[in-house]
Amino acid sequence: MGLLEKIKSHSAVVGVVGLGYVGLPLAVLQAKAGFRVFGVDEAAAKVGQVNRGENYISDVNGAELTQAVSSGRLSATGDFSVLGTCDIVLICVPTPLTRNKEPDISAVVSVTRQLAKYAHPEMLVVLESTTYPGTTEEVLLPILTEGGLKVGQELFIAFSPERVDPGNRSFKTHNTFKLVGGVTQACLTAARTFYEQSIVKIFPVSSPRVAEMTKVFENVFRSVNIALVNELAMLCDRMGLDVYEVIDAAATKNFGFMPFYPGPGVGGHCIPLDPYYLAWKSKEYDVHTRFIELAGEINEGMPYYVVAKLQRLLNRRGFCLNGAEILVLGVTYKADVADWRETPALKVMELLQREGTKLTYVDPLTPTIEIEGRSYAAVEVTDERLGRCACALILTAHSTFDYERIVRQAPLVFDTRNGTRHVKGNKANVVLL
Ligand SMILES: NC(=O)c1ccc[n+]([C@@H]2O[C@H](COP(=O)([O-])OP(=O)(O)OC[C@H]3O[C@@H](n4cnc5c(N)ncnc54)[C@H](O)[C@@H]3O)[C@@H](O)[C@H]2O)c1
Repeated sequence: MGLLEKIKSHSAVVGVVGLGYVGLPLAVLQAKAGFRVFGVDEAAAKVGQVNRGENYISDVNGAELTQAVSSGRLSATGDFSVLGTCDIVLICVPTPLTRNKEPDISAVVSVTRQLAKYAHPEMLVVLESTTYPGTTEEVLLPILTEGGLKVGQELFIAFSPERVDPGNRSFKTHNTFKLVGGVTQACLTAARTFYEQSIVKIFPVSSPRVAEMTKVFENVFRSVNIALVNELAMLCDRMGLDVYEVIDAAATKNFGFMPFYPGPGVGGHCIPLDPYYLAWKSKEYDVHTRFIELAGEINEGMPYYVVAKLQRLLNRRGFCLNGAEILVLGVTYKADVADWRETPALKVMELLQREGTKLTYVDPLTPTIEIEGRSYAAVEVTDERLGRCACALILTAHSTFDYERIVRQAPLVFDTRNGTRHVKGNKANVVLL
């Protein structure tokens, strides 16, 4: 049976490499669609958890994971040789930055090299990791065809970015438009046919490069707009205007405006990183992507702005940062999501720790954190703790926080996320970003 027949009859075997925020939901989705799925991950702990049916990603439905494992449709391993039995391999490994903010695609390269050993005719390989335009054709293609397989005839290669929005209740992988770009038309057909089995809407583009560029552009768009509104927030602060009132007013326009909200910085595995992938690649074409650099500068400056403003607020009340008790509320990068990668909260806390501030933090999704070698354990919110602190500093507005109580008890609330917006009554002690 050829690849397309195997896909349509759901007898194709799928390998998902990298069982993280992207790979695990995808593996469960494919198992749910009826495919036999092998998850491959170098982290033995995750392999064990998947095989025991234990969920560790909040966007995954635990019952669906258990069902996929107990039905024998999903299993995990650290052994790459299993890929030799797969018809389709999806690569979902991390694409971080080096210390100097250059792309680090070493995980993608290492996985591709492993996979090349097991590549065989009638195999489809799709890269899902976010990366710079050109990666699929310049990096994956040469490695995977080293052994002589002909792309578009024997081996099918495509790029299809993951666009999952962690914590989004309406849009998950299965109902978010899936972009697909194939190295050849046959590669596109194979990838498109595969995704059509489990995803409602597929949007084919003319090449992997277009798909790669589109994904990075989407995140540049967010980064630039967040930077713009962060700049506006700093200006409104100087001018004595409420930036949220301005945004809400602008959002009444029915066309040509999309609201973005300011905050203490950007976090997660996408927005702080992906734009730099494009900035790096663009230099090869003598283009300096100034918007990307500028947005990065403003967004990365926000934790410093938060600390400087907190210092001013305390100063006016006769305190200084050194020795002040600051109760941090929320440390994950996004509300209600248990992911603290690149979270600006840690940067704010690092700066405060250096100033000698007495820090405690509350976060139901993060039991412990470490800041420059010092460990902190999350504390409970109590009236006594709120009343005693010099400031309750809201860095992530989890929906589980009792904002009424925070505003009632804390002498000063510095709310960098507008989490207190629904609190009624006296809010004289609340300062927004
Ligand atoms: N997290 C998101 O919201 C999101 C959204 C869209 C796109 N992406 C992109 O998807 C990719 C994966 O991101 P993620 O958030 O799932 O990362 P993650 O860190 O949650 O998961 C990656 C997994 O890959 C495994 N891994 C790393 N190197 C490996 C190797 N050499 N061999 C086998 N396994 C390896 C890790 O152990 C981990 O389990 C990245 O390129 C990211 O930019 C992420």
